[in-house]
Amino acid sequence: MSALSCEHVLALHDLTVQDINLVLDTARSFKEINERPIKKLPTLRGRTVINFFLESSTRTRTSFEIAAKRLSADAVNMSGSTSATVKGESLVDTAQTLDAMDCDLIVIRHKYAGSPYILTQNMRAHVINGGDGKHQHPTQALLDLYTIREQFGSVEGLNVGIVGDIVHSRVVGSLAEGLIMLGARVTFIAPPTLLPMAPEALGVAGGTAIRCTSDLDAVLPELDVLYMLRIQLERIEKAPIPSLREYAQLFGVNAVRMARMKPDAIIMHPGPVNRGVELTSEAIDTAKNLLLYQVNAGVAVRMALMYLLLGGDADGAVA
Ligand code: NCD
Repeated sequence: MSALSCEHVLALHDLTVQDINLVLDTARSFKEINERPIKKLPTLRGRTVINFFLESSTRTRTSFEIAAKRLSADAVNMSGSTSATVKGESLVDTAQTLDAMDCDLIVIRHKYAGSPYILTQNMRAHVINGGDGKHQHPTQALLDLYTIREQFGSVEGLNVGIVGDIVHSRVVGSLAEGLIMLGARVTFIAPPTLLPMAPEALGVAGGTAIRCTSDLDAVLPELDVLYMLRIQLERIEKAPIPSLREYAQLFGVNAVRMARMKPDAIIMHPGPVNRGVELTSEAIDTAKNLLLYQVNAGVAVRMALMYLLLGGDADGAVA
């Protein structure tokens, strides 16, 4: 039985505000453990976690693997090229096969939106979505919310600008929901071709409206968080922007734009960065940029989510 109100985390909105806060509070305890020389807890000893990644990934897959191992679970990694999907096996058959091996939790990354749901219908294990197509990436949003909350003490009332490839980004699908649930104000900033026609369709029930603009410079001085997205070259079908060079000039963060930000504003990016496109090298190396803090927090947040889904202690206490 999960200590959260859901058995699976396929989308950020599967969680309640209370669940989100419980995950973030629990992650804080795990982050402390991750700073110790011996970073291992017996919490998930005897549990089997499968990382099933059918799309490329460096940080998310490694982060889930490290998280499972730090909690003493048996972590098994499967990738596209080594799984029977390359022999034509359907996702349903793969799911039933893995289910027959009695695993406790599975993390899936897949190029098709909705794939994690298919696992929930064909397996008894808890399912975590590690990114499905252009749809959702809930653990990225949780680690981003963790980073913002630690930096500012609370997410409520902050002005968050999400810049770039909004329409192709699964990170936005989850992050915008989480920010609105926790009371932030969200502005999407992108060329008109990369802005959604109906931002309210992101499905945040009862949330405040999301503002959209194509003028980064006009809103920059108001923002507490400048969240930069990677242009999803692999998912873009036509040519929504004339060139990456022009995009970088209009929407990239450089020294001039950094000087116009609020003094305590931060820059975030889910990675991987297209260096010189969304961020110049100066913007990557500045202390304002919390990219590596996000990566570090990601391990603790994923430990928290696995721990809570597998039954953890609902008051957030960690052994
Ligand atoms: C993101 C993803 O894969 O959706 N990366 C990540 O998980 N850290 C963002 C991206 O690829 O741009």
